[in-house]
Amino acid sequence: MSTTLLDSWDAQSAEARTPELARRRRGAGDAVRPPQGRRGPRPGAQGACALGGATQAAHTPVLAIELLELLDPKPGQTAIDCTFGDGGHARLLAERLGPAGTLVAIDRDPQAEQRFAKLAAETACSVRFIRSSYAEALELLAGEGMRADMAYFDLGMSSMQVDTRERGFSYSYDAPLDMRMDPAQELSAREVVAEWDERRLAHVLRDFGEERHAGAIARAIVRRREQCPIVTTLELVDTIKSAIPAPARFAGGHPAKRSFQALRIAVNDELGQLDRALPLAWGLLREGGVLAGISFHSLEDRRVKRFLADRARGCICPPDLPVCACGREPQAALLTRRSIVPSAEEIAENPRATSARLRAARKLTDEEAPA
Ligand SMILES: C[S@@+](CC[C@H](N)C(=O)[O-])C[C@H]1O[C@@H](n2cnc3c(N)ncnc32)[C@H](O)[C@@H]1O
Repeated sequence: MSTTLLDSWDAQSAEARTPELARRRRGAGDAVRPPQGRRGPRPGAQGACALGGATQAAHTPVLAIELLELLDPKPGQTAIDCTFGDGGHARLLAERLGPAGTLVAIDRDPQAEQRFAKLAAETACSVRFIRSSYAEALELLAGEGMRADMAYFDLGMSSMQVDTRERGFSYSYDAPLDMRMDPAQELSAREVVAEWDERRLAHVLRDFGEERHAGAIARAIVRRREQCPIVTTLELVDTIKSAIPAPARFAGGHPAKRSFQALRIAVNDELGQLDRALPLAWGLLREGGVLAGISFHSLEDRRVKRFLADRARGCICPPDLPVCACGREPQAALLTRRSIVPSAEEIAENPRATSARLRAARKLTDEEAPA
């Protein structure tokens, strides 16, 4: 059971991953990369699970031990999982919350709702699922006056989404261009590729994919769609490849990787959602509550980092002002001065964890906040 795995994780390596924890215990310390060695498999590395008769690839939760250590869930507390996915993190958390605890899970994907039903049947804590984008769900919870002890985001796609070919997230399989996390949403990658003008396409590819050849790819898309519509992932991959000079095509991973990431972010308004959701999640936290985010690319990580750093910042007056005029007080203590990254061992077990970055901050209590 995952509880046993977590319990077997030694306190020394726990401290190495969570600097504030280390400071609290030892009075000093700074963020440290996870050690390379670990006993036993990581939680959730189970391969596949059966659901409603069909076998689907399971999602291995990333940085699960590290996330749990930062959130530090206790019996009876309330947690909000903003990106439930396959429930890997939520399951570990629910065990810690116990029968008196509450888990609210959010996901916009109906597949996640099915996975949640399985967890709900097995867990002792009170559970609730909200199928919606997390920005809307958090607004709903705020409107209900809910208060939580922790909230976390595990951003991006789940393995179920990438590996379900017909959802069109992957450049490795031929499938209809889609990429919607919520299949009921109107906008899909097909519309973006078919209808957005060249400038807008180039902007998306550059800003969301950090694609150096954004202009050339946008031009190639527009030229090709004038001949015949681009409706499948591999047609798009061909178009992208045709626009990238040969030497660049063979350097730095799959040539369509950045463009696919960019389109997925645009289709699902991922950055807009995150910008709306971070303050909402922070507002729902009780004093002492923890907000954590796992990101998979710099656009997300930058947002999480800035948001948390901003909460932890006090006075912002120019240094030459003799007294503070802004009156700003820190609201948070950073739990991760530098982001926590997966160990080499986790990456070897789950290569999809490679680019993950975990950051967290704790809301100060009244006693801790400066008078
Ligand atoms: C990386 S997976 C989460 C995996 C999960 N932590 C686990 O252990 O199984 C991300 C999930 O977040 C969901 N998601 C992404 N953006 C979302 C948004 N704006 N609103 C709601 N759900 C979102 C996706 O549908 C996906 O299921």
